Amino acid sequence: MAEPTTNEINVPSKEVIERILSMELVRVTERAAVSAARWRGRGDEKAADQAAVDAMRRELNKLPIDGTIVIGEGERDEAPMLFIGEKVGNGKGTKVDIAVDPLEGTTLCAKDMPGAIAVMAMAPAGSLLYAPDVYMDKIAIGPGYSKGVVDLDATPADNIHALAKAKGVKPNEINVLILDRPRHAGLIESVRSTGASIRLITDGDVAGVIFTAMQSVTGIDLYLGSGGAPEGVLAAAALRCVGGQMQGRLILDTPAKVERARGMGISDPKRKYDMEELASDDVIVSATGVTDGALMHGVRFKGDVIETETIVYRSITGTVRRIHGEHRELSKFLLD
Ligand code: FBP
Repeated sequence: MAEPTTNEINVPSKEVIERILSMELVRVTERAAVSAARWRGRGDEKAADQAAVDAMRRELNKLPIDGTIVIGEGERDEAPMLFIGEKVGNGKGTKVDIAVDPLEGTTLCAKDMPGAIAVMAMAPAGSLLYAPDVYMDKIAIGPGYSKGVVDLDATPADNIHALAKAKGVKPNEINVLILDRPRHAGLIESVRSTGASIRLITDGDVAGVIFTAMQSVTGIDLYLGSGGAPEGVLAAAALRCVGGQMQGRLILDTPAKVERARGMGISDPKRKYDMEELASDDVIVSATGVTDGALMHGVRFKGDVIETETIVYRSITGTVRRIHGEHRELSKFLLD
């Protein structure tokens, strides 16, 4: 779609409003990241998460939107949350779905390890999957491959061979990213049996999925395994902006989870979702580093100046912006 011209800014169109709001989302994740970063390395996951949630909620409520949280966090690990169904914004603007993970990688932040981020996505109402906080099986690759080259229902070996063929390399040149969890022991064994290498991460699979879209920087070709469903929707939203591929399936392995999902409008508990179904319309994603990581650096406290680094993705144009923020008036920034 063509970008609106400057003249059109006098009469804001949907695209112009969306463009303006993308900068507002930067402010939201910046503030969540700064609030969480004050808890870096203090071993208190809940306090760090709560600080990020409070800051994010405060900033979201300043936005000229009629927003509904469709992806929140907390059911699974009882973290403080921006709860699913919560209304955000001043209620006067466009109706939008909001997906948030105010602190993605609470443990990474509490231990001051690389990769904690504050992340959110915004899209027209009804376009982000309204997912319960359960696990999701996921597969993702970056842009540049024909549609369907990998598939969630194929074996890890078949996926690696297909991807290697599409890339024109041997399977042992494929690098797979997997969350380091006991539940992935079988998956890890299958991947290794193909000769492919594996990068294990302790947490943070939103970034893990995004890594596939930055293969030349991260070296990651393929994301495999299960992680949080909320993180899956956020990752799909970001990947959609840069043209990668992703599929996900909710893991609804108890009658209670099936029932909870049904209550959220999910009638087929075994449904496989494509990236375009997880995030089905124009979306903006903003992510700010809390701790240093491969995507961006973490919050830096430098006397009266706080520095942040944010990446904003817009699917409408495929634009990816890196925004370096220098925030002055420290106490005001933290309190207002
Ligand atoms: P939190 O920030 O909620 O702790 O999530 C971190 C994370 O590693 C996610 O990136 C991932 O999707 C999920 O946890 C995996 O869950 P689990 O730790 O239960 O395997």
